[in-house]
Amino acid sequence: MIAPIVRDKAALRAMITPWKLAGEVVGVVPTMGALHDGHLSLVAAAKAACDRVIVTIFVNPKQFNNPDDLANYPRTENEDARKLERFDVDAIWVPDGAQMYPEGFSTNVSVSGLTDCLCGATRPGHFDGVATVVSKLFLQTHADKAFFGEKDFQQLQVVTRLAADLDIPIEVVGCPTIREEDGLAMSSRNLLLSDRARVYAPVLNEVMEEMAGQLRMGADMTALLPDASNRLDRAGFTSVDYLELRSATDLRLLDASDGNGRLFAAAWLAGVRLIDNIAV
Ligand code: PAJ
Repeated sequence: MIAPIVRDKAALRAMITPWKLAGEVVGVVPTMGALHDGHLSLVAAAKAACDRVIVTIFVNPKQFNNPDDLANYPRTENEDARKLERFDVDAIWVPDGAQMYPEGFSTNVSVSGLTDCLCGATRPGHFDGVATVVSKLFLQTHADKAFFGEKDFQQLQVVTRLAADLDIPIEVVGCPTIREEDGLAMSSRNLLLSDRARVYAPVLNEVMEEMAGQLRMGADMTALLPDASNRLDRAGFTSVDYLELRSATDLRLLDASDGNGRLFAAAWLAGVRLIDNIAV
């Protein structure tokens, strides 16, 4: 069934109120659209755990620190709605800029600590944008559960923290990363890769899997980094924003695995920034 596309806050509220009054469990899946099987796995998880499911599509200008990145971000609303048909979701919430940030909007939600490293360090302001929009989406939808991908592991930590800190009564559910057959983590940005870059993109995951294997056997990062950088270089990655082992609980930097580590990478290939992370 084609889900209703809702573009107005009052209409969204009118739709959700009876669900809440009836005691139904409402789930939300926040996205920026250009939906792929990674997003759809979150929708499937939401459908399995909730009575009502709202998928949100909003390319949030506040979380882009680079105007070209915002301009080039793929927008495929009609296709997205078609992809959601088979999941029978209850609403697709597609606010525009004026609905989300009306004139005079002046509030910023900022999570400290967790956002000092990784994408927080390399994309200034990014997580304030994410935290602000996600707080709004949580409050607009009154959802009981929200579904986020481990693909953006730091983001998952940040939204879990903000919901707890702001007493937003929502359970944040983390879902595993969905990959292409060659290991490349699915991402809306993969659509921006040239055919040639697409061939080399999986090298990022290949290198990380090998490093993770060695780390599990007790190797340390200092010993592994030179070879990993060389291989990424040879595959055409022009710069590596980070390639780091951190604690999965508090993102503290580690040199060797403590049994609960996570290997994180962000690297540029032919003008596209790819990120990935795997458990160690
Ligand atoms: P977007 O990149 O569209 O991702 C929406 C959700 O899909 C996020 O929770 C992300 O982690 C998840 N996701 C993306 N690729 C995935 C994959 N390969 N496997 C599993 N899950 C995947 O993340 C955002 O949008 C925005 O920052 C948002 C939270 C919507 C706030 O604007």
